[in-house]
Amino acid sequence: MRMSHFVKFIILLNFLQLLDPSFSLPLCTDSRAPLQLKTPLAFCSYNGTSCCNSNGDKQLQTQFNAMNISDPGCASLVKSVICAKCDKFSGELFRTDSVPRQLPILCNSTTSANSTKISQVESDFCSKLWTTCQNVSIISSPFSASVKSNSTKLTDLWKSQIDFCNAFGGASGDGSTCFAGEPVTLNTTTPITPPGGLCLEKIGNGSYLNMVAHPDGSSRAFFSNQQGKIWLANIPKLDSGELLELDDASPFLDLTDEVHFDTELGMMGIAFHPKFSQNGRFFASFNCDKQAWPGCGGRCSCNSDVDCDPSKLPGDSSSQPCQYQAVIAEFTASGSQPKKAKAANPKEVRRIFTMGLPFTGHHGGQILFGPRDGYLYFMMGDGGGIGDPYNFSQNKKSLLGKIMRLDVDGTSIPLGAAEITKLGLWGNYSIPKDNPYTDDKELQPEIWALGMRNPWRCSFDSARPSYFMCADVGQDKFEEVNIVSKVGNYGWRAYEGPYRYTPSKSPGGNTSMSSTNPIFPVMGYNHSDVNKNGGSASITGGYFYRSMTDPCMHGRYLFADLYAGSMWAGTENPENSGTFNTTQISFKCAQKSPIDCTFVPGSSDPALGYIFSYGEDNNKDMYVLASSGVYRVVRPSRCKYTCSKENSSAVVDDIPAGPPVASTPSAAFMLTGSCNNFVLMLLSFMLILASCF
Ligand SMILES: *[C@@H]1O[C@H](CO)[C@@H](O)[C@H](O)[C@H]1NC(C)=O
Ligand SMILES: *[C@@H]1O[C@H](CO)[C@@H](O)[C@H](O)[C@H]1NC(C)=O
Ligand SMILES: *[C@@H]1O[C@H](CO)[C@@H](O)[C@H](O)[C@H]1NC(C)=O
Ligand SMILES: *[C@@H]1O[C@H](CO)[C@@H](O)[C@H](O)[C@H]1NC(C)=O
Ligand SMILES: *[C@@H]1O[C@H](CO)[C@@H](O)[C@H](O)[C@H]1NC(C)=O
Ligand SMILES: *[C@@H]1O[C@H](CO)[C@@H](O)[C@H](O)[C@H]1NC(C)=O
Ligand SMILES: *[C@@H]1O[C@H](CO)[C@@H](O)[C@H](O)[C@H]1NC(C)=O
Ligand SMILES: *[C@@H]1O[C@H](CO)[C@@H](O)[C@H](O)[C@H]1NC(C)=O
Ligand SMILES: *[C@@H]1O[C@H](CO)[C@@H](O)[C@H](O)[C@H]1NC(C)=O
Ligand SMILES: *[C@@H]1O[C@H](CO)[C@@H](O)[C@H](O)[C@H]1NC(C)=O
Ligand SMILES: *[C@@H]1O[C@H](CO)[C@@H](O)[C@H](O)[C@H]1NC(C)=O
Ligand SMILES: *[C@@H]1O[C@H](CO)[C@@H](O)[C@H](O)[C@H]1NC(C)=O
Repeated sequence: MRMSHFVKFIILLNFLQLLDPSFSLPLCTDSRAPLQLKTPLAFCSYNGTSCCNSNGDKQLQTQFNAMNISDPGCASLVKSVICAKCDKFSGELFRTDSVPRQLPILCNSTTSANSTKISQVESDFCSKLWTTCQNVSIISSPFSASVKSNSTKLTDLWKSQIDFCNAFGGASGDGSTCFAGEPVTLNTTTPITPPGGLCLEKIGNGSYLNMVAHPDGSSRAFFSNQQGKIWLANIPKLDSGELLELDDASPFLDLTDEVHFDTELGMMGIAFHPKFSQNGRFFASFNCDKQAWPGCGGRCSCNSDVDCDPSKLPGDSSSQPCQYQAVIAEFTASGSQPKKAKAANPKEVRRIFTMGLPFTGHHGGQILFGPRDGYLYFMMGDGGGIGDPYNFSQNKKSLLGKIMRLDVDGTSIPLGAAEITKLGLWGNYSIPKDNPYTDDKELQPEIWALGMRNPWRCSFDSARPSYFMCADVGQDKFEEVNIVSKVGNYGWRAYEGPYRYTPSKSPGGNTSMSSTNPIFPVMGYNHSDVNKNGGSASITGGYFYRSMTDPCMHGRYLFADLYAGSMWAGTENPENSGTFNTTQISFKCAQKSPIDCTFVPGSSDPALGYIFSYGEDNNKDMYVLASSGVYRVVRPSRCKYTCSKENSSAVVDDIPAGPPVASTPSAAFMLTGSCNNFVLMLLSFMLILASCF
């Protein structure tokens, strides 16, 4: 019974999310991050962080003056409504993911329908606006359903306050943001409680870079390894004690002949079309070697358009410039029913993207479909070398150091050769109409965000898709987590995290600080926090934990350091503010783990090895993909972590806990690569994303 209520609760939650998807995050109506104002806006008087610059402010002033509102009380309310465009939460206030709104959602009491509570009605902003303005003439009224109209009163346009507030109001009691005549402020929340720790069970021995839940919503997920194989696996039920069901010998797709596998090269990402269950389309992002595979040819990212001469690229690991390419290729599930497919057609359907890489490092490679827009996001690093020597990340003509956004659904795909040449595209895709190049002609059309060094593992929060989280691997000092917004510049190589960065050698010149106007990370850690000896650090971004399996972890963003095996939880405080309090968290191996993951006998620290990535299944349970295997986050009591929110009746623990042992990092955790000593660790399964290259 309890379970079925819980399921209903989850269904209800999903349903509410569909009805009212929430942005909550300081974000503007066009998905850009707000600006930092140097002086308050002359007309709208917003100060600090705002979605308007002085031009936008002037336009609003012109619009307002044209309304010629005679009544001062009404004029002041209407002005505040017009100026809500400048609020740093305007993306939320205008809820632009559905039908674009002319006006913000006005706070409106849900109890106001009860006519006996008329005094409460008066106190609501929507009602206040109606009462104050109903008889006042407004030219080109923004409250009109049609765009332009003559001088009108609200009473000419709407029959009653109820009609008016049905159209413009939004309940103020449901926790979602609405406009009440003042800049939006967030509730200051109580001090955060750091989580006790993360309890992990080991369900598989395999080492994977990617895990993607099956788009059909089942308990299945796809796993891929760096060498180039994809498997379809069944995930065991929680507390079943069973293993990940994955047949090593029967991959869903085997691309090992095409994929070039090396330290930072291989199959880096897989993504399944949102309609995979119907169309069977999926995509693999990998690296290939043009000397080894004829299908590997592509343009070099080092070219004259970006002030880079391929003949002058320093030899890197004896490779020729652009010998290795970054590729996105489309494949399809075999058979006529993709949901039932146990394998893919081995033949590539279409080449989406091919680009030659200047060096062997820093090219991210993850691909993700945007949950709201259905476009394919492609994460690309600066292409390698110390300090982005060619200044690619800040160069708007280069796709290196960028997050791209591609349309793989356009009716005109494949585009004709002429169209591809005209836009300077790198393959068979088209460009979403609202990509930022339409406003900034200097930008390559694929670019969504810039200034990345090596985005290593991004995710969309499944509860709030506007939270597009990307960890970015640092150089010498700082590992960062960013919230990626449209045309956001994340600073590299003018900045490394919050710090100013100056390359020791800069053949590409020094990037001026003023040219970047960076958005600083929302979470991160200093290298010295994980490695007192100045060795390598390399961030692995995770997810917002959205399962209730560990209720104390719910809503926190989890991430790790690849080498050190350290993990952090970022707690947003206040909620929806985009501001996080980051605490390092401990983790342990659960009792009754299907595969034992205790390290030292008697200790309960799991020997994770390298933390490559994280995964999320269709129940929102979260997984750690490590060099030593696949781990699932389970209820904290299985590790004897205290979590008062955990339902105590669900706890069945009969295995005594081992003696308490101080958390000792395993030998693997201690492996360090000092940049000065230039220690290259070439373990066959390993991937070095970190600082040296
Ligand atoms: C605007 O904000 C800045 C910095 O927060 C502050 O110094 C300044 O006094 C504010 N100006 C007004 C008019 O509020
Ligand atoms: C503005 O309103 C005033 C009086 O309320 C009126 O005299 C004037 O003609 C109006 N201007 C326009 C452009 O409608
Ligand atoms: C309206 O409010 C009155 C008094 O608070 C209450 O008795 C009544 O049930 C309410 N009616 C509705 C429809 O909510
Ligand atoms: C607006 O007009 C209506 C009908 O003429 C009247 O009942 C109401 O009191 C007026 N409101 C204001 C604020 O003048
Ligand atoms: C109302 O608008 C129409 C066309 O937009 C125009 O022809 C008409 O003169 C306007 N009436 C007044 C009273 O402004
Ligand atoms: C706003 O309040 C009115 C009653 O005044 C109610 O009928 C309406 O449903 C509310 N609108 C929303 C969107 O909650
Ligand atoms: C802020 O807190 C108050 C009181 O706890 C609550 O009623 C209100 O819904 C909260 N607002 C938001 C936007 O969460
Ligand atoms: C983060 O939260 C902890 C625990 O509440 C608190 O001690 C610490 O000061 C907070 N740090 C920041 C930067 O707010
Ligand atoms: C996983 O690896 C361990 C250690 O090598 C081994 O003892 C165990 O049998 C393996 N389990 C599975 C399910 O492969
Ligand atoms: C478009 O796709 C076809 C089929 O995969 C491929 O032959 C062609 O090279 C691709 N075009 C580009 C520009 O990548
Ligand atoms: C690096 O790129 C940025 C952005 O294009 C530019 O402002 C800066 O001048 C560049 N630096 C050099 C030396 O080319
Ligand atoms: C870049 O800045 C460093 C430190 O300020 C300076 O030594 C170097 O000459 C500059 N390089 C160029 C090409 O301007």
